[in-house]
Amino acid sequence: MIGKLNHVAIVVPDLAAASALYRDTLGATVLSPHALPEHGVTAVFVELANTRIELLEPLGEQSPVRGFLARSPDGGIHHLCYEVADIRKACDRLRATGARILGDGEPRLGAHGKPVLFLHPKDFCGTLIELEEV
Ligand code: CO
Repeated sequence: MIGKLNHVAIVVPDLAAASALYRDTLGATVLSPHALPEHGVTAVFVELANTRIELLEPLGEQSPVRGFLARSPDGGIHHLCYEVADIRKACDRLRATGARILGDGEPRLGAHGKPVLFLHPKDFCGTLIELEEV
Protein backbone atom coordinates (compact mmCIF):
# COMPACT_ATOMS: atom_id res chain seq x y z
CA MET A 1 0.00 0.00 0.00
CA ILE A 2 2.66 2.58 0.96
CA GLY A 3 4.97 3.80 -1.79
CA LYS A 4 7.90 6.18 -1.64
CA LEU A 5 9.13 8.05 1.39
CA ASN A 6 7.82 11.52 0.56
CA HIS A 7 9.56 13.37 3.38
CA VAL A 8 11.00 13.22 6.88
CA ALA A 9 9.78 16.10 9.06
CA ILE A 10 12.09 17.62 11.64
CA VAL A 11 10.81 20.16 14.15
CA VAL A 12 13.35 22.91 14.83
CA PRO A 13 13.48 25.82 17.26
CA ASP A 14 15.03 28.20 14.69
CA LEU A 15 14.08 27.73 11.04
CA ALA A 16 16.66 30.20 9.69
CA ALA A 17 19.47 28.46 11.58
CA ALA A 18 18.27 25.01 10.47
CA SER A 19 17.99 26.18 6.84
CA ALA A 20 21.53 27.58 6.96
CA LEU A 21 22.79 24.31 8.46
CA TYR A 22 21.29 22.23 5.66
CA ARG A 23 22.33 24.69 2.94
CA ASP A 24 25.80 25.73 4.09
CA THR A 25 27.07 22.87 6.23
CA LEU A 26 25.39 19.94 4.48
CA GLY A 27 25.36 21.51 1.01
CA ALA A 28 21.71 20.70 0.27
CA THR A 29 19.18 22.52 -1.90
CA VAL A 30 17.01 24.45 0.55
CA LEU A 31 13.78 26.09 -0.63
CA SER A 32 12.19 29.26 0.75
CA PRO A 33 10.10 29.12 3.91
CA HIS A 34 6.34 29.05 3.58
CA ALA A 35 3.88 29.78 6.36
CA LEU A 36 1.07 27.28 6.87
CA PRO A 37 -1.14 29.01 9.45
CA GLU A 38 -3.86 26.34 9.14
CA HIS A 39 -1.27 23.76 10.30
CA GLY A 40 0.42 26.02 12.87
CA VAL A 41 3.86 25.74 11.26
CA THR A 42 6.28 27.46 8.94
CA ALA A 43 7.94 24.89 6.67
CA VAL A 44 11.15 24.76 4.67
CA PHE A 45 11.72 21.93 2.23
CA VAL A 46 15.18 20.50 1.67
CA GLU A 47 15.30 18.73 -1.70
CA LEU A 48 17.34 15.54 -1.82
CA ALA A 49 17.79 13.19 -4.77
CA ASN A 50 15.49 10.53 -3.35
CA THR A 51 13.27 12.37 -0.84
CA ARG A 52 12.79 15.63 1.01
CA ILE A 53 13.36 16.89 4.52
CA GLU A 54 10.62 19.14 5.90
CA LEU A 55 11.96 21.53 8.52
CA LEU A 56 9.09 22.76 10.72
CA GLU A 57 9.03 25.71 13.10
CA PRO A 58 6.00 26.50 15.28
CA LEU A 59 3.73 29.27 13.98
CA GLY A 60 1.32 30.81 16.49
CA GLU A 61 0.64 30.03 20.12
CA GLN A 62 -1.63 27.08 19.29
CA SER A 63 0.95 25.35 17.10
CA PRO A 64 0.70 21.55 17.41
CA VAL A 65 4.52 21.28 17.43
CA ARG A 66 5.06 23.57 20.43
CA GLY A 67 4.69 20.67 22.84
CA PHE A 68 7.27 18.69 20.86
CA LEU A 69 9.83 21.49 21.26
CA ALA A 70 9.00 21.81 24.95
CA ARG A 71 10.02 18.15 25.35
CA SER A 72 12.92 18.33 22.86
CA PRO A 73 14.28 21.90 22.86
CA ASP A 74 16.96 21.10 20.25
CA GLY A 75 14.31 19.77 17.87
CA GLY A 76 14.06 16.26 16.44
CA ILE A 77 12.39 13.93 13.98
CA HIS A 78 8.64 14.52 14.15
CA HIS A 79 7.12 12.29 11.46
CA LEU A 80 7.72 10.23 8.35
CA CYS A 81 5.51 10.71 5.31
CA TYR A 82 4.78 7.81 2.97
CA GLU A 83 3.03 8.16 -0.36
CA VAL A 84 -0.18 6.31 -1.16
CA ALA A 85 -2.06 6.18 -4.45
CA ASP A 86 -5.54 6.35 -2.93
CA ILE A 87 -5.96 7.84 0.52
CA ARG A 88 -9.63 6.74 0.81
CA LYS A 89 -8.65 3.11 0.25
CA ALA A 90 -5.73 3.50 2.66
CA CYS A 91 -8.09 4.98 5.25
CA ASP A 92 -10.56 2.09 4.92
CA ARG A 93 -7.83 -0.53 5.10
CA LEU A 94 -6.28 1.04 8.20
CA ARG A 95 -9.62 1.36 9.96
CA ALA A 96 -10.33 -2.30 9.22
CA THR A 97 -7.11 -3.26 11.01
CA GLY A 98 -7.97 -1.11 14.03
CA ALA A 99 -5.18 1.40 13.43
CA ARG A 100 -5.98 4.80 14.88
CA ILE A 101 -6.18 7.79 12.54
CA LEU A 102 -5.59 11.12 14.29
CA GLY A 103 -8.08 13.99 14.35
CA ASP A 104 -11.56 13.26 13.05
CA GLY A 105 -10.19 10.31 11.06
CA GLU A 106 -10.82 11.98 7.71
CA PRO A 107 -8.12 13.02 5.24
CA ARG A 108 -7.44 16.76 5.08
CA LEU A 109 -5.30 18.98 2.89
CA GLY A 110 -1.64 18.83 3.88
CA ALA A 111 1.38 21.06 3.37
CA HIS A 112 1.49 20.38 -0.40
CA GLY A 113 -2.22 20.86 -1.04
CA LYS A 114 -2.69 17.07 -1.26
CA PRO A 115 -4.91 14.96 1.02
CA VAL A 116 -3.08 13.61 4.05
CA LEU A 117 -3.82 11.76 7.25
CA PHE A 118 -1.79 10.99 10.36
CA LEU A 119 -1.57 7.64 12.14
CA HIS A 120 -1.19 7.18 15.87
CA PRO A 121 2.47 6.62 16.83
CA LYS A 122 1.51 3.97 19.39
CA ASP A 123 0.17 1.80 16.55
CA PHE A 124 3.30 2.24 14.39
CA CYS A 125 6.48 1.49 16.33
CA GLY A 126 6.43 4.78 18.22
CA THR A 127 6.60 6.82 15.01
CA LEU A 128 4.09 9.41 13.87
CA ILE A 129 3.23 8.53 10.26
CA GLU A 130 1.72 10.81 7.65
CA LEU A 131 0.18 9.33 4.52
CA GLU A 132 -0.07 11.61 1.51
CA GLU A 133 -1.97 10.90 -1.67
CA VAL A 134 0.15 11.52 -4.75
CO1 CO B 1 4.67 16.14 6.72
